[in-house]
Amino acid sequence: MDFKTSKAEGTVDFVNVFDLEKMAQQVIPKGAFGYIASGAGDTFTLHENIRSFNHKLIVPHTLKGVENPDTSVTFDGDQLTSPIIMAPVAAHKLANEQGEVASAKGVGEFGTIYTTSSYSSTDLPEITQALNGSPQWFQFYFSKDDGINRHIMDRVKEQGAKAIVLTADATVGGNREVDKRNGFTFPCNMPIVQEYLPEGIGKSMDFVYKSAKQALSPKDVEFIAQYSGLPVYVKGPQSAEDAFRALDAGASGIWVTNHGGRQLDGGPASFDSLQEVAEAVDKRVPIIFDSGVRRGQHVFKALASGADLVALGRPVIYGLAMGGSVGTRQVFEKINDELKMVMQLAGTQTIEDVRHFKLRHNPYDSSIPFSQNELKLD
Ligand code: FNR
Ligand code: LAC
Repeated sequence: MDFKTSKAEGTVDFVNVFDLEKMAQQVIPKGAFGYIASGAGDTFTLHENIRSFNHKLIVPHTLKGVENPDTSVTFDGDQLTSPIIMAPVAAHKLANEQGEVASAKGVGEFGTIYTTSSYSSTDLPEITQALNGSPQWFQFYFSKDDGINRHIMDRVKEQGAKAIVLTADATVGGNREVDKRNGFTFPCNMPIVQEYLPEGIGKSMDFVYKSAKQALSPKDVEFIAQYSGLPVYVKGPQSAEDAFRALDAGASGIWVTNHGGRQLDGGPASFDSLQEVAEAVDKRVPIIFDSGVRRGQHVFKALASGADLVALGRPVIYGLAMGGSVGTRQVFEKINDELKMVMQLAGTQTIEDVRHFKLRHNPYDSSIPFSQNELKLD
């Protein structure tokens, strides 16, 4: 790989994850940073993801006798340090030569769930080893070929993955104009799917998507659940109607997301869809939420709006770039420390208390500047 990127490992000094994004821009090569940080089209949805958390307000509760709030949760039998988990992100070697071995180690040491992307730049056994017993989910980019799908599920099961996440919102790539301007192609391999990609494929995202199944349907959810015997979490529903379709197909969880604003631009902020989906699901299955989470207060608001778990994408990759496994762990610690502080100030002792907290609708104009406006991506 002639692609020069960081090998960093160690403690990173940063105040918040917006700072970390600017620091990471200095060490990640331009094309790769553009791929990671940017979104689709006009990046309307990307920006609204972060701003939308201001649509609801935390009115604090005082005199509640709260001290040292507890962020731990149990999920599917696993005791987690926090409801904050790792979202599937392709090709961690774009950010740090150590790739997924370092990010998985950091996530495992923090003590939460790691979701392995189909397009990881490290193979499954090495990721499992780095996790050292911490829970792993596998994110599936479903192939047109069921033989391939069965083979991947066999391998995933061998690694002891606890769930399969079916990504349903990326049947083709979004309009990544920054990648086009930068002429970005992947400088690293994707070993989990590489052997199935026709010659030369794997270098450009468009080609990679061509091997994935476009006509995804409820039958695919049924097939994965039946063949793997694992819970299937559908990643992509943003409405009650979509949640019902996934549930009817046998989904064991709904992952509310807009893929970090990387796919369909012009759609709603993910946070604005969460409550509708949570009300429709009505606690029948867990809700996982992501897109735009940069603060402990964002996590708090997502939990209070119906999420059971909240996933982080880009911020973790920036931590990985700056500090390898330690930097990865620090991102989780930072946002979890912020969550703890918000819980204390809001008067909530446990995550269960947060989930019962009533947020107030924001009557004000919530347009505030957002750090990415200051980034130059191409
Ligand atoms: C992603 N995401 C993603 N999702 C997925 O299902 N499979 C994948 O391989 C990837 N790859 C990927 C690469 C990069 C560089 C990014 C930034 C994101 C989407 C990811 O799981 C998650 O939905 C978003 O990253 C959440 O938004 P934030 O936290 O980045 O704002
Ligand atoms: C992305 C794909 C890999 O968002 O999901 O770039």
